Amino acid sequence: MSDTEKSYSLVILAKVNPERELPTDIYLKIDQKYIRFRGQGDVIGAEKFDDFMQKGLEGIYVLADEIMIFLDWITNIRDEEINETLKESSDDTREIVTSMYDVKEKVYETFLNSELNEEVVEELQEQVNDFVSKVKEQPFSKQTIAALITRNSTLADHSVNVANLSVYLAMVMGHGHQLVLENIYLGAILHDLGKAKAGLTEIGSGDGRFMSQAMQGHPELSVKVIRKSKGLPDAVYKIILQHHEQFNGFGYPAGLHGDDIYEMAQIVSIANVFDNILYENRQLPRKQAWELAIKKIELGKERYWHSKFFPRVVDALKLAKQI
Ligand SMILES: [Fe+2]
Ligand SMILES: [Fe+2]
Repeated sequence: MSDTEKSYSLVILAKVNPERELPTDIYLKIDQKYIRFRGQGDVIGAEKFDDFMQKGLEGIYVLADEIMIFLDWITNIRDEEINETLKESSDDTREIVTSMYDVKEKVYETFLNSELNEEVVEELQEQVNDFVSKVKEQPFSKQTIAALITRNSTLADHSVNVANLSVYLAMVMGHGHQLVLENIYLGAILHDLGKAKAGLTEIGSGDGRFMSQAMQGHPELSVKVIRKSKGLPDAVYKIILQHHEQFNGFGYPAGLHGDDIYEMAQIVSIANVFDNILYENRQLPRKQAWELAIKKIELGKERYWHSKFFPRVVDALKLAKQI
């Protein structure tokens, strides 16, 4: 049988474990052609996997004849991982751990649903809480948050809010993989570190044209400070550096335009503006401030942010339980 006659089945990338030996060959679809990417027994590798996730690659392909072998492999690994995690824990944590492994699938299911509703949003918010409560206990997040609190507690609150909201919005946009969510969480926690370093106390979003140089320089300063603590993925630096870039090219520091801005940086930018509006209107009843912030986000379509986030992100903010 020639290659063109073979049929292939799609496997959602988020379901594939990048560090385990593959049970079959896998293929990528490039220009309508299936190209063998890895062989049976090879691994994809975390770095390559992260790269694919960030580029928005939906899935990989397996020969249709071998799809059952592949799906069994996915299920076995999932069960194995759950059992491994549960070995040393009590029975009542089983549910939590199982739900953690289900995040990816839930997010994809949600993403495939054409409309968000209260039930879906409630479930997603629970997933966010689960994810955040785990990731904030990691040593690096813990240290960073503690350092921010000592320097400027308002900024620390803002960073934590932006991080939580960014994870929620990323999930709403269909990003379910642990690595991608961790990167966006860290990027958001660190996004304004340069402000603390420069002793800036302004929290608000402001307007780039009328800003002090120190203010305009805070994304680069944040990156400079963090570069010293090596080992963070490039995606995290990109998020920090680009969180004030705007879709229309009028942002700073680089004046990037349209698709040149990293998608995760745009998500953090939405969360950042949203939290700034809440802060600026903190004297108002929460509900009213929340509505004002949603209005501001709606007005930013195609000015600050890509139209692909609309109306989904706005719907998600409207439906979210206000925190
Ligand atoms: Fe900022
Ligand atoms: Fe900020």
